[in-house]
Amino acid sequence: MKVLVIGSGGREHTLCWKIAQSKRVSKIFCAPGNGGTEEIAENIDINPNEIDKLLNFALENSIDLTVVGPEDPLVDGIVNKFKENGLRIFGVDKNSAQLEGSKVFAKQFMEKHGIPTAKYRTYINLDEAINGLGEFDYPVVIKADGLCLGKGVIICQTKEEGIEALNHMMTEKVFGTAGDTIIIEEFLEGIEASLLCFVSNGEIIPMESAKDYKQIFDGDEGPNTGGVGCFSPNPLFNENLEKNIQEEILSKIETGFKDEGLDYNGILFIGLMITKDMPKVLEFNVRFGDPETEVLMPRLKSDIVEIFEKTIDGKLKKEDLVWADRKCVTVVATSGGYPGKYEKGEEIVGLDNLDDDIILFHNGTKRLDGRVYTNGGRVISITSLGDTLEEAKDRIYDNIDKIDFDGMYFRKDIGRI
Ligand SMILES: Nc1ncnc2c1ncn2[C@@H]1O[C@H](COP(=O)(O)OP(=O)(O)O)[C@@H](O)[C@H]1O
Ligand SMILES: [Mg+2]
Repeated sequence: MKVLVIGSGGREHTLCWKIAQSKRVSKIFCAPGNGGTEEIAENIDINPNEIDKLLNFALENSIDLTVVGPEDPLVDGIVNKFKENGLRIFGVDKNSAQLEGSKVFAKQFMEKHGIPTAKYRTYINLDEAINGLGEFDYPVVIKADGLCLGKGVIICQTKEEGIEALNHMMTEKVFGTAGDTIIIEEFLEGIEASLLCFVSNGEIIPMESAKDYKQIFDGDEGPNTGGVGCFSPNPLFNENLEKNIQEEILSKIETGFKDEGLDYNGILFIGLMITKDMPKVLEFNVRFGDPETEVLMPRLKSDIVEIFEKTIDGKLKKEDLVWADRKCVTVVATSGGYPGKYEKGEEIVGLDNLDDDIILFHNGTKRLDGRVYTNGGRVISITSLGDTLEEAKDRIYDNIDKIDFDGMYFRKDIGRI
């Protein structure tokens, strides 16, 4: 069968890598892909938001299965459009994608169905929002409603910072219409964790746990990034926590899907804060996480194409997900300056010198005349499986110095608990 993967990051390279292992697959296309996907798929020069072009491509090339990486096309209804045209596609439909596309929708969903989350108020008017700050303690969290490339959340230590953030979103409109409605939310203290799940016919089936590293510097210092390292499983997850999440969160979300008439089929990625009282939901995403995908797919023994197909048909069962009892670690090498300004187009050398048991996923690279160049803030994810976390981590750090590009940076403490 012919598969089309939409997106261009490490997540999409990882999905292509896993899909390529399926015996049922004869050809993979990736739109637009990167220097890594090019090795196993044919890169197609169409961007994820060009839904009509993607649809035409899929129809003209008789694509049997399309897999959507990023959230934007899901929120814009790519799944509805493909299905209307008789195409099979893995991802949530437009209604369900509101759980990520609108933070207000997500908060109302949680409130209505008794899912533990931070206390909040929503505002469409600046003066009322400024008044509303008075109802909260500090720090306070201010969130833009719509998609903001992961930059729409500001944690404010004082009222002055709160007013500044509100002006930023509502007056200066730095996030455009995504900031027309804002949320002011109680700051939760605790340990963050995320849980990726398949959802098939409204039934939530969690994947193995993972822990990601969001800050750019060792010891979780410095600004937030898209994620610069990750490992699986996450030792924070134990039977007690899993039971609690199942009863207090997952089953209530399932009820919510039914009550709201959401025909949820695809991925649900739940951002959690494990507070001292209980786990609470920070946010929902409706697609695979990056870098979580890079450490989950190598541990998944089952055929991912079977899983996608069963999910689409509403038939996926927990037993369909078989996981290797091994640990997986990934360390992301980034361009100097990321998550701020950085250069692109630096040649990457040494990629051919790595040990066989290193799995290399490309995040932001481009291939030109057989050479590989940087093409993003996150550049490559050096990944390894091991019987222990130590083993996997040591193998990565033994190999990473063989790779070089101008400005290359990576955290030295990934995998340290
Ligand atoms: N209520 C909250 N209390 C404490 N920290 C929060 C809260 N909401 C968000 N955060 C922090 O901000 C980050 C981004 O918020 P999130 O809701 O995940 O939005 P997005 O990923 O769309 O930017 C979270 O990962 C968390 O670190
Ligand atoms: Mg988030």
